[in-house]
Amino acid sequence: ASSLQQVCEPSAHSNAGYEEYADVDWDNLGFGLMPTDYMYITKGTKDGLFEEGQLSRYGNIELSPSAGVLNYGQGLFEGTKAIRKEDGRLLLFRPDQNAIRMKIGAERMCMSSPSVDQFVDAVKQTALANNRWVPPPGKGSLYLRPLLMGSGPILGLAPAPEYTFLVYASPVGNYFKEGVAPLNLYVEDEFHRTSRGGAGGVKTITNYAPVLKALGRAKSRGFSDVLYLDSVNKKYIEEVSSCNIFIVKDDTISTPATNGTILEGVTRKSIIEIARALGYQVEERSIPVEELIDANEVFGTGTAVCVAQVGSITHQGKRVEYKTGDRSVCRELFSTLVGIQRGLIEDKMGWTVEI
Ligand code: COI
Repeated sequence: ASSLQQVCEPSAHSNAGYEEYADVDWDNLGFGLMPTDYMYITKGTKDGLFEEGQLSRYGNIELSPSAGVLNYGQGLFEGTKAIRKEDGRLLLFRPDQNAIRMKIGAERMCMSSPSVDQFVDAVKQTALANNRWVPPPGKGSLYLRPLLMGSGPILGLAPAPEYTFLVYASPVGNYFKEGVAPLNLYVEDEFHRTSRGGAGGVKTITNYAPVLKALGRAKSRGFSDVLYLDSVNKKYIEEVSSCNIFIVKDDTISTPATNGTILEGVTRKSIIEIARALGYQVEERSIPVEELIDANEVFGTGTAVCVAQVGSITHQGKRVEYKTGDRSVCRELFSTLVGIQRGLIEDKMGWTVEI
């Protein structure tokens, strides 16, 4: 069996020491919202004093029509996962990195934010409270979605006077409808994801709605997602709507440097470290779009997409195809990352948190 099969094949459908599963068709999870039992919620002042949060039943929240997030987009989100080990226990993957990224994003968006400890504790509480929604080993994960928003009322343009921090969860499988099949990307020439001096480097909600137009157009033409170019030179590859991007040429793996327009992905960072540990040379640099023509492989990384192989990229009517499959660099990196996340490969980096 290939290393991927060893890592990803479910353990003979065992309940993995856990008996209380929710009534879900675990074999057919995609990335659709499946409401779970509980969410965590707390409020903070603009000076950063956040109350001790509490779990409440998952459901609608009330907001003032003049909430900062609704009027001026003062909002951030995160994505992290709880994965069930073979023994039934749950593993989180580097939740502190999401907490730190939210703090950095909050600073950029003039928002107050919970402490790293409170963030990680909230993620733990939400995962454990929704334990029955965490898929059996090898069937997917519980995606945890922390949100930070300016919930206080404000009319003139200014930071909101109050903030809400919330974590909800949904069981998920593969992000793309293609499943694990290679993606077909479209390079966008008209729209850009973000611009120099903007907020592309942080996970603000305002980076996502603007790509829906290009994404919808590409999907209607049969593409899986869009690869954006930088807005200044319209020449360097930046990011995909849903994930960071890497290219492989011989033993060198390259990814756009984080210069303020690229999201500092937790999976991106982890894959860079894994690749270096496996002996690859990894370069973070500007990558001209022409380099896509000579690349051997291309893949995307993100919490939601994991490590997603790209089978083709189309730019200005030209389609380039890439190596995919079991013997690819992408597969090796994917298997190693997923192996660590599932507790099947020794976590020498100390990335996983058992709860
Ligand atoms: C994630 O990977 O967690 C994200 O937030 C990306 C989003 C487009 C689903």
